Amino acid sequence: MMKANIAVLVSGGGTNLQAILDAQEAGSLKSGQVVLVVSDRAGAYALERARKAGVPGKEINKKACGGQAAFEAQLEAALTEAKADLIILAGFLSILSEDFTRRHDHRILNIHPSLIPSFCGAGYYGLKVHEAALARGVKVTGATVHFVNEIPDGGEIIAQKAVEIQPGDTAETLQRRVMEQAEWILLPQAAEEVSARILRERAENAG
Ligand code: GRF
Repeated sequence: MMKANIAVLVSGGGTNLQAILDAQEAGSLKSGQVVLVVSDRAGAYALERARKAGVPGKEINKKACGGQAAFEAQLEAALTEAKADLIILAGFLSILSEDFTRRHDHRILNIHPSLIPSFCGAGYYGLKVHEAALARGVKVTGATVHFVNEIPDGGEIIAQKAVEIQPGDTAETLQRRVMEQAEWILLPQAAEEVSARILRERAENAG
């Protein structure tokens, strides 16, 4: 069966990558296959997860590349070599240029740990998102999967899932619950939905 080739971009622990790999293994992600994992920094445990799953991994160290253009040129080369049809940002912390996002219009997904448009945009990532939600006193938060465009967390929303904040939550306990109850469910589902759409479009274009 034809599958869309998925490249996953990471920066850290890779729990969202693991959720995608687990969905592929379980068969719930059947229209796409992870063919490449790229970390923008050294020592990301996500690359270890890729290795254990037998998926090629690359470190394209943004700091060592000497600038955004050189970083993106190396990233494009890796994506082309892997024949990537879909790019998924999973805990990926680097900003991608407008040129890059336009070249891959509606082909880049991101998982953000809040219900966009709350607590998103420049400066809102990782624990900071949950700290802001707790500081504001919201009773419900969650996660969002969206297409990536030139505006940080500004692309078309694909899916969202709400998570209740509980008394005594810290940023850490909230982050964990949002991951378990929202991120790790939404991202593989969105990967399957968009991969299947890519395959349908390809079949229609083939006439
Ligand atoms: C998490 O806070 C997640 O919400 C965000 O990136 C962080 C690390 O994710 N997308 P991961 O464990 O590296 O997938």
